[in-house]
Amino acid sequence: MRTHYCGIVRESEIDQEITVCGWVHRRRDHGGVIFIDLRDREGLVQIVFDPDLPEIFSIAEHVRSEYVLQVTGKVRNRPEGTVNPDLPTGQIEVLAQKLVVLNKSETPPFQIEDDDISEEHRLRYRYIDLRREEMFKRMKLRSEIIRYLRSYLDNQGFLDIETPMLTKATPEGARDYLVPSRTHAGSFFALPQSPQIFKQLLMVSGMDRYYQVVRCFRDEDLRADRQPEFTQLDIETSFMMEDEIIALMEEMLRDVFSNVLQIELPDPFPRMSHAEAMRRYGSDKPDLRIPLELVDVNDVMEGVEFKVFAGPAKDPDGRVAALCVPQGCELSRKEIDDYTKYVSIYGAKGLAYIKVNDLAAGRDGLQSPILKFLPDDTVQTILDRTGAKSGDLIFFGADKTKIVNEALGALRVKLGHDRGLLKEGWAPLWVVDFPMFEYDENAKRWTSLHHPFTSPNEEDIEYLESDPGRCQSRAYDIVLNGTELGGGSMRIYRPDVQKKVFHALGISDEEANEKFGFLLDALKFGCPPHGGIAFGLDRMVMLMTGAQSIREVMAFPKTQTASCLLTQAPSTVSDAQLRELNIKIRKQPKETEK
Ligand code: AMO
Ligand code: AMP
Repeated sequence: MRTHYCGIVRESEIDQEITVCGWVHRRRDHGGVIFIDLRDREGLVQIVFDPDLPEIFSIAEHVRSEYVLQVTGKVRNRPEGTVNPDLPTGQIEVLAQKLVVLNKSETPPFQIEDDDISEEHRLRYRYIDLRREEMFKRMKLRSEIIRYLRSYLDNQGFLDIETPMLTKATPEGARDYLVPSRTHAGSFFALPQSPQIFKQLLMVSGMDRYYQVVRCFRDEDLRADRQPEFTQLDIETSFMMEDEIIALMEEMLRDVFSNVLQIELPDPFPRMSHAEAMRRYGSDKPDLRIPLELVDVNDVMEGVEFKVFAGPAKDPDGRVAALCVPQGCELSRKEIDDYTKYVSIYGAKGLAYIKVNDLAAGRDGLQSPILKFLPDDTVQTILDRTGAKSGDLIFFGADKTKIVNEALGALRVKLGHDRGLLKEGWAPLWVVDFPMFEYDENAKRWTSLHHPFTSPNEEDIEYLESDPGRCQSRAYDIVLNGTELGGGSMRIYRPDVQKKVFHALGISDEEANEKFGFLLDALKFGCPPHGGIAFGLDRMVMLMTGAQSIREVMAFPKTQTASCLLTQAPSTVSDAQLRELNIKIRKQPKETEK
């Protein structure tokens, strides 16, 4: 039907007769001559309709935005003065000789070039939104990235193996999406939160190197970088130690960045322990482009009069930390109040500060609501430790360690963005030496920081049941510019160790057998030492395209409330379907009865 994409016609085609197909982007009537910008995925080309050909001219008069046309014509230079240097096809135009209206279009719900459309509207009419150049570029880059990743892994001897979508719950810490079984009334499949257990079973089978570009499903609270269904690049290997896996994965990332974006990532990537990341950045996914750090001041706050600080300073689970903001004296009362409100989201009860107006002037050079509570030597230690200069402001957080880390960690990122402190470039980081477990105060039990199949450090195995809090895992997360891009670990390959971990998690032998008996069995039949990783592909593409959310790099994403505006899913189903599945819908309890 066509000889060329609209967007690729150049001067090399001058005097040639070509045929292009595409959508009417814009139509202009210029006193007897009609111009149509015809658009396809590769771009625009200008078509000229001359009244000398009255038959097609009169058709051209009646076409509207987003009509689908097939045009045959001769490529020629644009007349002097009408060249458009901003357009790759701006030197040329096509003088139409034949025109077929392949399809009409109703007036579109929004103009393709309008970039100020609400996301709701864009998602409702996603097929039109995807016509926008920006969206096409993202989809294309996504496709290229996946192609490179696949080819890298193919070349390294990895096998692409599919795993089931209708399966049993895999514990990655979110709620499952369930699918009722018709043939087993009252029973449900779970959609996989990840192929974790299956990829481990493939290692038991001797597949040695596996990968999959795979959809995962998690019913959890959504954010800019979380969707209920998302794509992982899932990887597993046998007989490789963590350093070998990390090196291979680094090389893969350097390769894809270099090939697709012509960006050279560092070799090797830096590594940091989980404990250090929490101490210095209050986060297990620190954005190293932001040159701000949390500084511990527990020791000097233990004895101060100010209870708000002295309490957490003396509490083994408490923390008092400072965060120095260069030129922070510029912050107004209102801005400080807004930051105080911001940290309250994370549970912080306040946000004390010291403005260092003039470092040389002693106490008189400082301005702070808490200065009166702090003795001279304490103030001096704070100034020394934070390295504050005249003009800087020091924020303080005091509370349970978890709250201080979350609050100041988030404040650090916000200040970095608000104050334009981010360093240019790409900052990958491996976070290693994770704790095996974290204590869930609400459920009053230990939970896995990664998943229950993560191997503990060899020397911690004896403490799994007696002192879970001290055990470290052989997990590694890859962080890029403050986003958790992927996570992996060496796995447990001994049934006795796996059982101990289940015990530590409060899972009885009976429950373990019921849920994971097939895995425990498999571990008995010659399971090799193995480990792997999974990358969030949507997040990788988001970072590589500079998009603000993973929704921008998925063709058909869900909304923040996990629904699809395009298809109106989820939706109710017929009584007949429910009956077939043996399912009865409970009446929604009234708000007051919940
Ligand atoms: P994890 O749970 O860390 O590990 O997931 C791996 C990576 O997947 C991405 N990711 C998400 N992306 C978008 N929306 C979500 N809701 C979402 N949840 C996770 C993140 C994350 O780093 N089985 C293990 C991997 C392993 O141990 O091999 C797993 O799934 O980028
Ligand atoms: P107050 O004595 O409550 O007026 O608090 C004095 C200062 O300490 C104010 O700037 C508060 O924002 C700050 N503040 C109160 N609680 C905390 C806390 N837990 N961590 C950090 N600063 C706090």
